[in-house]
Amino acid sequence: MTGQIGVGIVGAGPVVQAIHLPTLARLADLFAVRALMDVDEATAALVGGRVGASPYTRLEDLLADPAVDVVAICSPHKFHAQQVIAALRAGKRAVLCEKPLAMGRDEADLIAAAVAETGVPLIVGAMHTFDPAWLGVLPLIEQLRSNAHTIRSSIVLPFNARFEDWATEVVNQKPFALPDVVDDAFRARMMEFGVLGLAIHDIPIVRAFLPDADPLVTAAAFLEPFGYAITMRVGDVLVDVFGLLQPQWQPQWEFEAISADARLHIDFTPSFVHAGSAVATLTDTKGTQVFQDVPHNGYEGEWRAIAAAVNGDRALVPDPADLVQDLMLALDIADQAADLQITQEVK
Ligand SMILES: NC(=O)c1ccc[n+]([C@@H]2O[C@H](COP(=O)([O-])OP(=O)(O)OC[C@H]3O[C@@H](n4cnc5c(N)ncnc54)[C@H](O)[C@@H]3O)[C@@H](O)[C@H]2O)c1
Repeated sequence: MTGQIGVGIVGAGPVVQAIHLPTLARLADLFAVRALMDVDEATAALVGGRVGASPYTRLEDLLADPAVDVVAICSPHKFHAQQVIAALRAGKRAVLCEKPLAMGRDEADLIAAAVAETGVPLIVGAMHTFDPAWLGVLPLIEQLRSNAHTIRSSIVLPFNARFEDWATEVVNQKPFALPDVVDDAFRARMMEFGVLGLAIHDIPIVRAFLPDADPLVTAAAFLEPFGYAITMRVGDVLVDVFGLLQPQWQPQWEFEAISADARLHIDFTPSFVHAGSAVATLTDTKGTQVFQDVPHNGYEGEWRAIAAAVNGDRALVPDPADLVQDLMLALDIADQAADLQITQEVK
C-alpha cells in the first residue's frame, strides 16, 4: 500500500493516550490516526482533537469511515471479541486487539472463525512478543524450548497511573483503588483480572516453552495491594508467574527459561515505557550471547508488524489457533488460581 496507513482506534482510554498515540506519532511515515471512537463523547472529541482524528461514539460509524484501513481495539476487555469480529468483517486491512483477545473459549473460537472467513490479519497486543530482542533470540532457543524444566515470568510495576501521567495528560483517567471490603469473592475476581490483564502479556512467551499438556496450579496467592503469585506444573515443567503493582519497588519485567545446560534471561521494558528493546541473555554450552540495543521495543514492534501485514508480509502475524491456545491457557490458570488463592500483604 502506498502512503500512510489510516488507523481507526476503538476506546480512547489511558492505553491509547499514553501508549498507542505516542507510538504512532513516532511511526508517522507509516501511519496516520484518522478516526477514534469512544462511548464517552468528550473523550472521543478531546483525544481525537489532539491528533486530528474524526471522533465517533458508535463503532459502526468508525468502521464505515473509508479513511480507516486498520482498526485497533483498545476498549475494556469485555468488548474485545464483539468489536474484533465487527472490525474483521468490515473489509479492513488488519486488526490489532489489546490483550486479552476475549473473555472465553466461545468468543475466541468465533474470532478464529472470523479470521478464517475474512483472511484479515489479526494481532494481539502482547507487546513483548514483538520485542526485537525476543525475536532475535528465538531462532537460537529451539532446544531450550523443548527441554526447559523451569519457567519464570515476573512483573513488578507501579500502578498504571504513574507511567500514564509521565507520558501524557490523561483524559478520563480512573486510578485503581481497592474496595473497602477485600473478601474472597473480590480476591478471586482480582486473580482472574491479574492473569487476564497482566500475566497474559507473557503467556505466549511462556507457552513457547511448554509441552502440550494441561496446567496444574499447585499454589496461588493474591498479593495486596494488587498482584498474584502462582506456581504450576505443565507436564514436567515448573512454571512460576508473579505480578505485583506496588508503588515502592523498582519496576522490573523479567522472563527466565532454564534447562540442564542453558538459561535464557530477558529484561523487558515495563509497560507504558517507550524505550529501546529488551535485553535477552542466552547462556548455554557455547557461551553467552546478548540481544539488545535495538532502538524500539514491542509497542513499535506490534505496529510495525501491522504495517508489514498490510503490505503482504505476514511473518509476524500469529496463527489464530495460537491466539486461542494462549487465551485458553490464561483462562485455565486464572480459574484454578481463583479457586486456590490465599492472601498475602506485600510490604
Ligand atoms: N499493552 C499494554 O501495555 C496495556 C496496558 C494496560 C492495559 N492494556 C489494555 O488496553 C485496553 C484499554 O485499557 P485502558 O486502561 O485504556 O482501559 P480503560 O477502561 O481505562 O479505558 C478504555 C476506554 O474505552 C472506553 N469504552 C468503554 N466502553 C467502550 C466500548 N464499548 N467501545 C468503545 N470504547 C469504550 C472508555 O470510555 C475508556 O475511554 C484493555 O484491554 C487493557 O487490557 C494494555
